[in-house]
Amino acid sequence: MCGIVGVLGNHEVAPILVEALKRLEYRGYDSAGIATVNGGVLDRRRAVGKLANLSDKLVHQPLAGKAGIGHTRWATHGAPTEGNAHPHKAGRVAVVHNGIIENFRELRAELAEAGINFQTETDTETVALLTEHHMAQGMDAAQAAFQTLDRLQGAFALAFLFDGQDDLIVAARKGSPLAIGHGDGEMFVGSDAIALAPLTDRITYLEEGDRAVVTRDGVEIRDAHGTLANRQVRQIQIDAARVDKAGHKHFMAKEIAEQPTVLSNTLANYLGTDGQISLPDPGIDFTKIDRLTMVACGTAYYACLTAKYWFEQIARLPVEVDVASEFRYREPPVPARTLALFVSQSGETADTLAALRYCEGKADKIVSIINVPESSIARESNLALPIHAGVEVGVASTKAFTCQLTVLLMLVLKAAQERGTLSDADLADHISALRGIPALINLGLEQSDAMKTTARKLAEARDILFLGRGIMYPLAHEGALKLKEISYIHAEAYASGELKHGPIALIDKNVPVVVMAPRDPLFDKTVSNMQEVMARKGKVVLVSNAAGIAEAGEGVWSKIAMPDCPDIVAPILYAVPAQLLAYHTAVAKGTDVDQPRNLAKSVTVE
Ligand code: F6R
Repeated sequence: MCGIVGVLGNHEVAPILVEALKRLEYRGYDSAGIATVNGGVLDRRRAVGKLANLSDKLVHQPLAGKAGIGHTRWATHGAPTEGNAHPHKAGRVAVVHNGIIENFRELRAELAEAGINFQTETDTETVALLTEHHMAQGMDAAQAAFQTLDRLQGAFALAFLFDGQDDLIVAARKGSPLAIGHGDGEMFVGSDAIALAPLTDRITYLEEGDRAVVTRDGVEIRDAHGTLANRQVRQIQIDAARVDKAGHKHFMAKEIAEQPTVLSNTLANYLGTDGQISLPDPGIDFTKIDRLTMVACGTAYYACLTAKYWFEQIARLPVEVDVASEFRYREPPVPARTLALFVSQSGETADTLAALRYCEGKADKIVSIINVPESSIARESNLALPIHAGVEVGVASTKAFTCQLTVLLMLVLKAAQERGTLSDADLADHISALRGIPALINLGLEQSDAMKTTARKLAEARDILFLGRGIMYPLAHEGALKLKEISYIHAEAYASGELKHGPIALIDKNVPVVVMAPRDPLFDKTVSNMQEVMARKGKVVLVSNAAGIAEAGEGVWSKIAMPDCPDIVAPILYAVPAQLLAYHTAVAKGTDVDQPRNLAKSVTVE
């Protein structure tokens, strides 16, 4: 997590750094800081909390200079205090860091032995101190930084700025992404190209182990062995305009509301007017695939779990789904004819990227479903399938989830078609169901007020359970995750059939139970589970269509009516109540919906 930026410019850099940090705030908002070199003098400003606090501070204590680095923090080592905020400074060196220096205790012990004192609880301060220590031994700035980099273990993207040097930033990447931006007589460094979008569209992505010496004239990159490396300069297309809330109270509300539009866009990118699903080159030959391994984190993981039902039922492909943080260390066998599929909105999630790398050379093909085409996961895949959701700002993922599900479903239909597991008539029906998704979501959104009424009641609860059966089970998880991350209410999801194997002990009159259950072939079984809850005074919130609500009978605490829909697209439609129930509950509780506590949008540390 954490976002870093660096600018060697021709104008005052403080406002440029702050603007770039705004674009990186999705990576963390525990503190923010910048350092500049002005007239050869290195100085810094830091503030706890959101970037706005740093901006306020800069009004009263401005920082001049045309060279600088900046940081927005998601705290790992050390509390989110001003003292622990980046840039960290030791003598002539200032450093900003994204990642974790795993051997920092060992390095600290060495420095302590040399009589060097620490001011902070962070791993990053060690980097600044070690570099200053090397400079004190006579090394020049770049040499000292390189010497330090040789000692670091863990994952990092780092940018160094030096007292007395207003035309130098040293940058390095190992495990965490870093981009170098090329301007005209100006150079930039950023955690991603989005941060640099208003400054340049010419980007060089550092590769694993790369170190870069950046001056206004350009960049010299060396690989992990110290050999000069020729890295491509790419022309990228990112809308430089910062997205706004378009009249909504929160980005999350805007992103939920724009799902019909972005989903139409997703469909248009994969679905031809001839009804054929087409994938970008080099495509996938599903006749050569015997199994699928799907890996992701959080919401993207629940998209994978949903797709497992589709792949297995429709394309008859066995699927293994795992959370990336477990998969990467489990050393799972990856047999021949396995397609490894990674799903990630940001394309930068550290665990998912590590899982992808684990599969390199083992899986037949590595495919990713991402929202950021320039991301590390996209670049390291054999085939990257963009979801075309547009920038997602709200920390809680919403439109990315429904777009991920839609791309996954198209992949399932393509696989089924190639493997001959679906009749032409069924394929045509399913494609027509896909085309109907945007209109269905529009109808679902019309129930927002009903969900608001229910959410006001949910906001009083301390614990909430979510139930689902079959393909609605992963969605129950997604509903619980959305609710806990933005409303801070404890929520758990269970497969309806699992309830009486233990969790039913939790049910009493204080525990609302949200049941996601369209009137599908498994509905009767879910109704039985609902009755078991109500018999124990549990308060059932039933999310279903008109037929389901009519059949559920008396005793349901709250009913949310969804439009009728083909079974196959139900998880995509029912994502809307999962999102809106969480959203309205959080608003009723007055939490920070777009930037909930302790979270960050992109999880670039493990
Ligand atoms: C929840 C949420 C997270 C992400 C997870 C993976 O609302 O947003 O659970 O889904 O951190 O992130 P990506 O998709 O960027 O790999």
